[in-house]
Amino acid sequence: MSEKMNAVGFYQHLTIDDPKSLVDVTLARPTPSGHDILVQVSAISVNPVDIATRKNGEDVTKKPRILGFDAVGTVVKIGPDVSLFNIGDRVYYAGSFNRPGSYSDFELVDERIVALAPDKLDDAHAAAMPLTSLTAWEALFEQLGIDPKDHDLNHEKTILVINGAGGVGSIATQLAHYAGLHVIASASRPETKEWALQHGANEVVDHHRDLINEVHNLGYQNVDYILELNNLDNHWDEMVELIAPNGKISSITSNQKPLNLTALKRKRVTFAWEWMFTKAFYQTDDLSSQHEILQRIAALLDSGILRSTLNQKISGINATNLKKAHTMIEEGHTIGKIVLTK
Ligand SMILES: NC(=O)c1ccc[n+]([C@@H]2O[C@H](COP(=O)([O-])OP(=O)(O)OC[C@H]3O[C@@H](n4cnc5c(N)ncnc54)[C@H](OP(=O)(O)O)[C@@H]3O)[C@@H](O)[C@H]2O)c1
Repeated sequence: MSEKMNAVGFYQHLTIDDPKSLVDVTLARPTPSGHDILVQVSAISVNPVDIATRKNGEDVTKKPRILGFDAVGTVVKIGPDVSLFNIGDRVYYAGSFNRPGSYSDFELVDERIVALAPDKLDDAHAAAMPLTSLTAWEALFEQLGIDPKDHDLNHEKTILVINGAGGVGSIATQLAHYAGLHVIASASRPETKEWALQHGANEVVDHHRDLINEVHNLGYQNVDYILELNNLDNHWDEMVELIAPNGKISSITSNQKPLNLTALKRKRVTFAWEWMFTKAFYQTDDLSSQHEILQRIAALLDSGILRSTLNQKISGINATNLKKAHTMIEEGHTIGKIVLTK
């Protein structure tokens, strides 16, 4: 008989107040093949994509869908092609969009999107980091084309990070600061403003006011880069106005209305999407770049250049606690990250 494991899943897309929106289940423990490692999960973090995937859709499944992307844990078995890890290694990763996730005692993950967890961080602080760090790193240093080492150039450049105190913003502001950019972050409450200033922002603007006036009032006519991390439709017109000629915009959110890209033509502005699941979803040639990015993030965390964005820790990975975390994120006021530990 195969060994069993506990997990949290759902069979149909329900609102979080429905008792069946997330349920405790027992499943067979999977076996690794190819490049997969089997990880015994010790901490996870919750992301807005978990909520969107749970809520949106019509399908009803016979097998539970297991959500969860961020995880920290220990390698307990390895597939025959694994070369990067050994049994016993403590690892962290953000997983894949199209595989069962980390709301589970054990999870299979491709070694090429995994790295050793930062030594100096406990499980909770490390689990806060992978998905948001990959998103922010890829958006800044791949999609916006910023060279993190070119401090001479970056010192002359300004970036506006829209949603500076959320999960992604809290690490994006730190990475932009690390690259030497002047960082303007948006936040609307005293506590989120303070958080953004403590996590790499030089100045703060209020996203519930007119961002054009807010940025102009700081003395900037334009900004060289914009990283949009909240609502592309709502912030589009402000970005069109604020972006400098030859500037670059990256967004990690979706638009519900058609985008008027023509509005960016005269300024010759580049617009680039970021989706951190692209590499694993399409098995791109640069898949293992996520292994390398997470290695670099771990080193920056261990050296104290970056700090964990953990803000709230819940003990116990089960349906009750995951419903609490989903509810908090759905309310839209989270600061940094929520983590659940074993
Ligand atoms: N494409 C990708 O790969 C990718 C990866 C990760 C996340 N995402 C998406 O990116 C978005 C952000 O994720 P997250 O985890 O950073 O979110 P989050 O942690 O849930 O963001 C919460 C923050 O949103 C801010 N906020 C509320 N209203 C806002 C507004 N009108 N404009 C700007 N900010 C506002 C709040 O700040 P105040 O309280 O100060 O108002 C709050 O601190 C989500 O839609 C998520 O699904 C995409």
